[in-house]
Amino acid sequence: MNSDIKNKIKILASELKDEIISWRRHIHQNPELSNEEYKTAKFVADKLKKFGVDVVIENFGETPAVVGLIKGKHNITVALRADMDALPMEEKGDKPYKSKVKGVMHSCGHDAHTAMLLGAAKILCGLKEKLQGNVKLIFQPCEERQDCRGARTLVEKGVLENPKVSAIFGIHVFPELPSGVVGTREGHFLASSDGFKIEVIGKGTHASRPHLGVDPVLVSAQVINALHHIVSRKVDPLHPAVLTIGKINGGFAENIIPESVTMEGTVRTLSLNLREKISEWMEETIKGVTSAYGAEYKFSFRAGNPPVINDKLTTRFAISMLRDLLGEDQVVELENPTMGGEDFSEYLLKVPGTFLRLGVRNEKKGITAPLHSPFFDVDEEVLPIGSQSMAYLAYKWLEEHS
Ligand code: NI
Repeated sequence: MNSDIKNKIKILASELKDEIISWRRHIHQNPELSNEEYKTAKFVADKLKKFGVDVVIENFGETPAVVGLIKGKHNITVALRADMDALPMEEKGDKPYKSKVKGVMHSCGHDAHTAMLLGAAKILCGLKEKLQGNVKLIFQPCEERQDCRGARTLVEKGVLENPKVSAIFGIHVFPELPSGVVGTREGHFLASSDGFKIEVIGKGTHASRPHLGVDPVLVSAQVINALHHIVSRKVDPLHPAVLTIGKINGGFAENIIPESVTMEGTVRTLSLNLREKISEWMEETIKGVTSAYGAEYKFSFRAGNPPVINDKLTTRFAISMLRDLLGEDQVVELENPTMGGEDFSEYLLKVPGTFLRLGVRNEKKGITAPLHSPFFDVDEEVLPIGSQSMAYLAYKWLEEHS
């Protein structure tokens, strides 16, 4: 029975291969920026309706999101997620399916994610009679930009409710793994990425009469030094963290002590707790240092994506199921997390789930460019692997939990 389903899913995926590739190429040639994915969403919604997905909601929560529901036997629901946005950059290289939109390119593989989830949807529609529960298909907008917050907006608008989602899985293509190899890890997977802005406000005066003012340039120097004590002296050395001040602005002439100095930077951590503590420690430090020198300050901390922390149970499940489907050596447990970010974490704050990487590197075909490179491409042979992996995870999750 088990191997019947496995083989059926594999056959359906290989029959769909050309179609999945053509969807990916269509989306690749017609990329849309974050929160503007209306044509991509329409393309997705039309396909889902054609496949026989029971409920298709376009513009979910007044965003360019598409949410589909394939209904199964019991009242249990698993979710699969893809993102649809492209990046503001010009594609280079000469592939026949190059972007037709000037200055916009799918260089993070979200075209592949969307096509793979469409493939999974079509496979699951073909198995509807046997599905033990519901599959929710989430095609989200705006993964790339912090200001429109695709995943968070959908979560706030109830994407994980009605019916309530019991687990969620998502795949991201990854050019550092060989083509077709799946990688993931339990627990910490990707970092949080937060931004901050500091203004040190002094009192401007003539450079030759510093005693009549408060020098924000000198105070800023002390603030920067003091802030670098946080990671080196307050954070447990076993917990990775980064605090970088990447921008500083102040003053306009050699003989003027300016009124203020502004600084901007980023904080990365792997734990929810730590990122909150770091922002508190930052404010305490800035407050203490500025007040010691008679200056004032403004501090704003912009919380970006939380860290991606894969649930233990769903991750053990995903690893064993995908080893069963793809072969033992095709699924690797990644040793370390990385300090990059992903808004899949917003779903993981609400429901257990696992984020996976799918290798798309093929040196023989010259496909080696990193994510966000103008030459980025994926080995399209992997697209049906992504589709069957998602379909199998959803199918088996429902079978084991209904
Ligand atoms: Ni991405």
